[in-house]
Amino acid sequence: TDSTAGAKADHPMWSSRLAFILAASGSAVGLGNIWKFPYITGENGGGAFVLVYLLCIALIGIPIMAAEVMIGRRGGRSPINSMRQLASRDGLSKRWVWIGGMGMLASFLILSFYSVIGGWALSYVGNSAGGLFAGASADSIGAIFGNLLADPYTLLLWHSVFMVLVIMIVARGVSSGMEKAINILMPIMFGLLLVMVGYAMSTDSFGDGFKFLFSPDFSKLTTEGVLTALGHAFFTLSLGMGVMMAYGSYLPKNVSIVKTAVTVSMVDTAVALMAGLAIFPLVFANGMEAGAGPGLIFQTLPIAFGQMPGGVFFGTLFFILLVVAAVTSAISLLEPVVEWFEEQKGISRLKGALIGGISIWLLGITTILSLNVWSDVHPLAMFERFEGKTIFDLLDYVTANLMMPLGGLFIALFVGWFMSKQAAENELSIGNGVAFNLFMFVLRFITPAAVLVVFVYNLM
Ligand code: PFF
Ligand code: NA
Repeated sequence: TDSTAGAKADHPMWSSRLAFILAASGSAVGLGNIWKFPYITGENGGGAFVLVYLLCIALIGIPIMAAEVMIGRRGGRSPINSMRQLASRDGLSKRWVWIGGMGMLASFLILSFYSVIGGWALSYVGNSAGGLFAGASADSIGAIFGNLLADPYTLLLWHSVFMVLVIMIVARGVSSGMEKAINILMPIMFGLLLVMVGYAMSTDSFGDGFKFLFSPDFSKLTTEGVLTALGHAFFTLSLGMGVMMAYGSYLPKNVSIVKTAVTVSMVDTAVALMAGLAIFPLVFANGMEAGAGPGLIFQTLPIAFGQMPGGVFFGTLFFILLVVAAVTSAISLLEPVVEWFEEQKGISRLKGALIGGISIWLLGITTILSLNVWSDVHPLAMFERFEGKTIFDLLDYVTANLMMPLGGLFIALFVGWFMSKQAAENELSIGNGVAFNLFMFVLRFITPAAVLVVFVYNLM
């Protein structure tokens, strides 16, 4: 076996396989499932898109997740230092360290705007509980959203509350902070989601919602839709950025990586589908459009809550659910940055969480201003493809369309072609038969090809 493998002796560990599964699921399940998945499914016509998305998760998402967790556990450190460890152990170029570095940078950038959207969700808990949506017209509900985006001070307030929550949890450390918070938050989230689906089932339009999600109409599927599905598979599973590496570095040796990756992916997929089953019946029951875009849950859905019996209660539950999901993902975005700070001499976890968190909070202010005061600032307007993009749009674009797929590509290439095959066998411990060879085949050929297609398409 690989005797030098794994974490330093004083490195903390998840207390069990379940704790890791909950944490990794907490990272995966987030705004991507409850906000993004329903609206991109709505925009891309439903069933056929969902089918392609499911294929992407199974064929590309699961192998990359296993690869990332494997790198993290074998390296036992922050993404950058795990890559450094593994590259030197297998006599490879130091340039592989860039995978970890790019991932950390992507975490940093994503969290800066993810927190602003998390802030929208926080403010909608108050809006909903305060009865702002009850009986309100579509126009006035649209105005609530418009006014929020136009007001930098309110946005800053909620962005700050969100970041303080995240910093506090991460600063307390793996077992007493993150694990404890996640153990409480994840079950609450599942409970709330079940209540929401239960409510949707009681409406007359549940069948329509179900059909929209699960009966594929391939005439509605576009090339763009296929590529969106693949890109979303990365985002929704938190892949290509080292987050799963950082979490994997806390995974005990005896836990099966394959089983774990499959479970986490299934949980994430189940939540996305349940969110769809909770949302589309309400949309259809109120005669609204599935293809409303990013405003689907902040503008369309509140209209439905405003019309339905018990809407204040269910609406408030829904936005609490969104906040919980966003917080557990945000924790995972801060963790790699903090883990790296902690490895630097003389920086405590608390200090690292503060330095990292405050810098991210500051960067988030550019996203807030992009929505109002700076909405006409287009820093890369000299390039045609970036013409109308604000700083917020650019942060979103560069991370999701460039950095994550590139990270995924290099992770697949690293494990598929460069890392010691023996080490991969040891880590996976599924022998070296059909399953192992299929896994390696996917990482060597299928994943790189798929990612390259998306990447080239995005650049064109
Ligand atoms: N997977 C999260 C979601 O679906 O909302 C978003 C995310 C979290 C992306 C962590 C990337 C990441 F590293
Ligand atoms: Na997700």
